[in-house]
Amino acid sequence: MSDSRPIGIFDSGIGGLTVARAIRRELPREDLIYFGDTARLPYGTKSEQTVSRYAHQIAQFLLRRDVKVLVVACNTASAVALPALEKSLEIPVLGVIEPGVIGAVKATKTNCIGVIGTVATIESNAYSQALHEQNHVLEVVSVACPLFVPLAEEGLLDGSIAEAIAHRYLDTFGSAGIDTLILGCTHYPYLTPVIEKVVGRRIALVDSGSETAHILTNLLQEKQMTAKDSSEGRLTVLLTDLPRRFREVGARFLGQPLDDIGLVSLAHD
Ligand code: DGL
Repeated sequence: MSDSRPIGIFDSGIGGLTVARAIRRELPREDLIYFGDTARLPYGTKSEQTVSRYAHQIAQFLLRRDVKVLVVACNTASAVALPALEKSLEIPVLGVIEPGVIGAVKATKTNCIGVIGTVATIESNAYSQALHEQNHVLEVVSVACPLFVPLAEEGLLDGSIAEAIAHRYLDTFGSAGIDTLILGCTHYPYLTPVIEKVVGRRIALVDSGSETAHILTNLLQEKQMTAKDSSEGRLTVLLTDLPRRFREVGARFLGQPLDDIGLVSLAHD
């Protein structure tokens, strides 16, 4: 059995292209529809109710495009809206929190794990709850790093500004005894060099995006929902706004030029 329908992926903007990139690497034959809500970005500073409403609108939009599975690439949307989406949709829904948690639990030896994310993600406690569901003795230290998103968007991935901001957020981990750090935001994998420089190389960094791609692959295989076609899958990128520099920043996140882009509106959802 196979299923040639596309995989739907959504994020608040183009940061989730890091997740699309990991999925394309693992599942090159699958068609992907990537939805970036660039008109309403950022989600990380918004209320739970607003992010939830946005997530439901986008899920309905993608369902009308006949996606076979929905990947919530945005950590903030996964943190506040995943259970409600799973309940209301008839297709499988995969967020980025659980995959990241599974990766971190596998990596830790000291049972002390750090989590970094947007303010909304950290305040939701979604990572900490999911970690404790896996292992209730884990010690979890969570820190919101709101300036990391604009840093990555600006391409300020290293140098004195990036380092100063990283120290401000991450020095807390120096005395916390963590051996594993979850990068709980779409944009943070791009800051890996500066994060490593500040926290030290002994700390294992877990990128939720690549963990999500592994779990998605297993899910499609188990449910016999992989695409049969042997040709390379197509990536369609749909955005609610075409911000300045999105091509340049998006290509950096995706690791290849952004070709097939459409501007869409959710006005009627
Ligand atoms: N995509 C968001 C996340 O992973 C980061 C950007 C935003 O705040 O919207 O949490």
